[in-house]
Amino acid sequence: MENFRLHIPTDIRFGKDRLEELPEVLSPYGKRILLAYGGGSIKKSGLYDKVVALLKDNGFSFVELSGIAPNPKIDSVRQGVRLIRENQLDAILAVGGGSVVDASKVIAAGVYYDGDVWDLVLDRSKVGRAVPIVDILTLAATGTEMNRNAVISNPETNEKLGTSGWELIPKASFLDPTLTYTVSKWQTAAGAADMMSHLFEQYFNRTEAVDVQDSIAEGLLKTIIKYAPIAIREPENYDARANLFWSSTLALNGLVGQGRSGGWSCHPIEHELSAYYDITHGIGLAILTPRWMTFCLDKDSTTHAKFAAYARNVWGLNQGTDEELARQAVQKTYDFFKEQLEIPMTLPEVGIENQDLVSEMSEQAVKHGGLSNDRFVNLTVDDVKEIIKASYNPMETF
Ligand code: NZQ
Ligand code: ZN
Repeated sequence: MENFRLHIPTDIRFGKDRLEELPEVLSPYGKRILLAYGGGSIKKSGLYDKVVALLKDNGFSFVELSGIAPNPKIDSVRQGVRLIRENQLDAILAVGGGSVVDASKVIAAGVYYDGDVWDLVLDRSKVGRAVPIVDILTLAATGTEMNRNAVISNPETNEKLGTSGWELIPKASFLDPTLTYTVSKWQTAAGAADMMSHLFEQYFNRTEAVDVQDSIAEGLLKTIIKYAPIAIREPENYDARANLFWSSTLALNGLVGQGRSGGWSCHPIEHELSAYYDITHGIGLAILTPRWMTFCLDKDSTTHAKFAAYARNVWGLNQGTDEELARQAVQKTYDFFKEQLEIPMTLPEVGIENQDLVSEMSEQAVKHGGLSNDRFVNLTVDDVKEIIKASYNPMETF
């Protein structure tokens, strides 16, 4: 295990009926608030009215930034920075999914940055001080509620990139599982695939003797595999929604990732699919992941042991050699996404029909994601092309 620092000061308010605590939680950061939200789900669910009433009744004033889109765009960030400066606001209250929180994070840093905020996405070393953020999260997926990362898209340049900063960690996050009852089957499935992918990205890694981190990852994967299909069948099952919510937070708050080094693989590739085609992040990950796993197994036999551990400890498989177990586990993963989460498992099914951009996306993924170095299996541009191309056809069963 390597040295690490883990400092996550987020005040987590988990559970139902805790919204009354909002004024007390928000007050230390000021009374003038930017209320940031997405395309209207919070109005439909009634959450918007509750939040607005709580703000008004407790002496807060606020300015709204609405319409933050999935795969949040840099223009929303620019707009948020302008609103905070013009109205001299003290803090951001982000209400919605990961996209709203991510946009809020870069807005928060942008207020203290003199140039164009896209610079902060291109170069995280420019992220410094930030306006405090409190969020009310309505979708279990990203882990942004307890981490320092944000992912922003620039449609003008077809770029979707991550940035990061210690000051971007939310001061407090309200995680009420009942707020996720209205999340569609599609977004529930995408969220589950996203959190599983976060665990895979950290678990399939070369650092030795990280048993603590690996056991946490395996436990979270088993929890997601147990509860995601229930949440899809029974959207108002509290236990399912609660377990998914807390799994998504723990999957990416540092517990699994700290103490080891090595970069991610499927996320940088998926970010190119989203950048060029604006597809749902978790769906892109579900499609790519089993192809990436197969690629690793075919290319490098030193990966077999770790995939076999995944097979044994997550799927309970125990018949066969390491390679056989590994391949069974990949099949289980694919079938889980397809059958239990009902995710369309090829690119044409999500609207990416021709292969014209495969080369360009592969080059960008290697460049932006640093895929050729320090990965579980290093990837060249040709390797990425192979993985994306395999995603156009259904995967063969073994
Ligand atoms: O915009 P509204 O109307 O609110 O609707 C949203 C949106 O259409 C809807 N939704 C959210 N909560 C709902 C709801 N609908 C009904 N009921 C509710 N309770 O769901 C749609 C998707 O929302 P979005 O915020 O985009 O989803 P998610 O939380 O999955 O966030 C995805 C974004 O996060 C980035 C992704 O790349 C993507 O841009 N990521 C951020 C990470 C981080 N900061 O650490 C890590 C991840 O790997 C990921 O890359
Ligand atoms: Zn993700």
